[in-house]
Amino acid sequence: MPGLLYGGDYNPEQWPAGVQAEDAELMRRARVTTATVGVFAWSKLEPAPGRYDFGWLDEVLDRLAAHGVGVALATPTASPPPWFSLAHPEALPVNADAVRLSHSSRDTYCASAPAYRTAARRIAAALGEHYRGHPALAMWHVHNEYGTTCHCDLTAEAFRVWLRGRYEGLDQLNDAWTTAFWGQHYTDWAQIRPPRRTQYLPNPAQVLDFRRFTSDELLAAYTEQRDLLRAATPGVPVTTNFVLGGWVPVNHARWAREVDLVAIDHYPSEPGMAAEEQAAFAADLARGWARQSPGGPHWLLMETAPNLIYTADRMHTKEPGRMARQSLAAVARGSRGALFFQWRAPRGGAELFHSALVPHAGPDSRVYREAVALGEALDRIGETAEGTVEARVAIGYDEPSAWALQGAGLPSNRLDHAEEAQRAHRALWRRRIVCDVIGVWEGLSAYRMLVLPGHYLMTDGQAAELRAWVEAGGHLVVTYLTGIADEHARVRTGGYPGALRELLGVRVEEFHPLGPDDRVALTPATSGDLWPAATGDLWSETVHLAGAHALLRYAGGVLDGLPAVTRHAAGDGMAYYVSTRLDPEAYGHLLATVAASAGAGPEQSGLPSGVEAVRRQAGDRSWLFLLNHTGDEHEVPATGVDLLTGTAVTDAIRLPAGGAALIRQARPDVGPLPAG
Ligand code: GLA
Repeated sequence: MPGLLYGGDYNPEQWPAGVQAEDAELMRRARVTTATVGVFAWSKLEPAPGRYDFGWLDEVLDRLAAHGVGVALATPTASPPPWFSLAHPEALPVNADAVRLSHSSRDTYCASAPAYRTAARRIAAALGEHYRGHPALAMWHVHNEYGTTCHCDLTAEAFRVWLRGRYEGLDQLNDAWTTAFWGQHYTDWAQIRPPRRTQYLPNPAQVLDFRRFTSDELLAAYTEQRDLLRAATPGVPVTTNFVLGGWVPVNHARWAREVDLVAIDHYPSEPGMAAEEQAAFAADLARGWARQSPGGPHWLLMETAPNLIYTADRMHTKEPGRMARQSLAAVARGSRGALFFQWRAPRGGAELFHSALVPHAGPDSRVYREAVALGEALDRIGETAEGTVEARVAIGYDEPSAWALQGAGLPSNRLDHAEEAQRAHRALWRRRIVCDVIGVWEGLSAYRMLVLPGHYLMTDGQAAELRAWVEAGGHLVVTYLTGIADEHARVRTGGYPGALRELLGVRVEEFHPLGPDDRVALTPATSGDLWPAATGDLWSETVHLAGAHALLRYAGGVLDGLPAVTRHAAGDGMAYYVSTRLDPEAYGHLLATVAASAGAGPEQSGLPSGVEAVRRQAGDRSWLFLLNHTGDEHEVPATGVDLLTGTAVTDAIRLPAGGAALIRQARPDVGPLPAG
């Protein structure tokens, strides 16, 4: 797959032949390279059990191949046909209230139901067999956005099997789940159920293990399809599109090792600059996962909306040029291209007003014209595909910690690990310090600085790895609620944060969670220290120094004079502790200061707010992406060739409002490019 991929989800089964013929022409005109086909086509491909109708799809793939479009061919297993659900009602999912759902939407399957798994393997194998060697077949797209949870009796059985693999025996499970609390002690495996709706608060360790089980169960459903496809078409990459969100019961860091290319779907949920910040976070998260994947460190933006941004109350039309700039922003951060949901806007169905590259208005539209321009741009900058982003800073994001912090019975109901990770990311993004968001700790040695924001769960092994990394020279920033509990969500006693007390040189005696309108004032511990006026919200703590130095102290209130932010030298490195949610300015100041002392400064300093600078590099070349997300023109220092316009740039380039430039340069650490 040379160059950058461009295109998106294509559902020809929704359209008559004439429209499909027009689609192929319009794709060629827009230089589409990739169409994701067949995602929800199970009932068209297998209209009755074991009776396949591939004829219509053959025509689609033949036509796309003839128009130079490669296909990410989906297995359609996210949406079983009505005949299947009627024949196998036990394979419909059951929610936590023990209500069995019905078909006529999508994702109406239980991954633990043998009938579903058998039918899914059968259609995947049939597709693999049929499309082996087809010239359009570029990639396999297994299923769609794995994330369905089920609480049925079949799931209960599978959960028990999984638990037997995880724990030596019932004694270990009882201990891990602290079942002595509220008399939940199990005396037989058969007594264990998924965490269905119960009288009062559920057992947090049971809920956490059930999420881990669900992730592994879905992963097994994925890998069995993947293995069939690999066997049928060796050499064709196999992946699935990861969906992000607190509800998703998937540990993507583990899954990343099982896909040939990490692919994510991402839809910003806020219309303004926050959309760019969210997209950058998702991109850096995908890249962090991709570093653990055989196809890494490249990743792929598999789906995003071409036009509209969806917020809770309405759809927001993107400004002209924003689709292209956001696509370049994803490529800047290591995406193998820009794919969209979807190619053509449907006439009906549940998502009938979802945006598309060919909108309801048809090709005579701003959006399609921008799609054509984007295809040209991506074609022109294809060489950047080989470059990688080399971050020296990482943020730890741990999905099990996020799940654990969603539980009831915690000291505040506003704790959100994903939001904490995004806050840290936003602070770095605004200072143009590029970071990987990492889910597992393999490869920590690549980083000079690591931020752990609300990384609630921590194993002894992780704590030991962290200590070794800091002592070898790493700069660690840990925020409140990190390392509080072990992997079974049991608190580590003796003072918080149990796993990291010694490394941080602090002992936290008590939490003081804050209300939505509460603020705590903070003051520099040493007069003359240059800090912006700092405050904290959400959280505060009684922190005692046990070897660390205070950088900021609480000023006023019950914690008056006690340390709020601390620093502790350990070996050749430094460990910082942040006991409250710092306001964005103070947080940014702290992280930028730590990054500077870790030798991990910004890509370019002195840029106007809202202008991004990110570099991909390979060999002796590098590509500097400059993205102006503001409504004003800005002049930015740069020298090289702007690949988007083909013009030479000397010293500086003018970025129009909302515009972008992509400067080919020598690698900064390699020296000038050889002539020619
Ligand atoms: C996801 C799904 C698509 C579609 C879009 C809507 O990306 O994969 O099928 O539902 O969301 O935004």
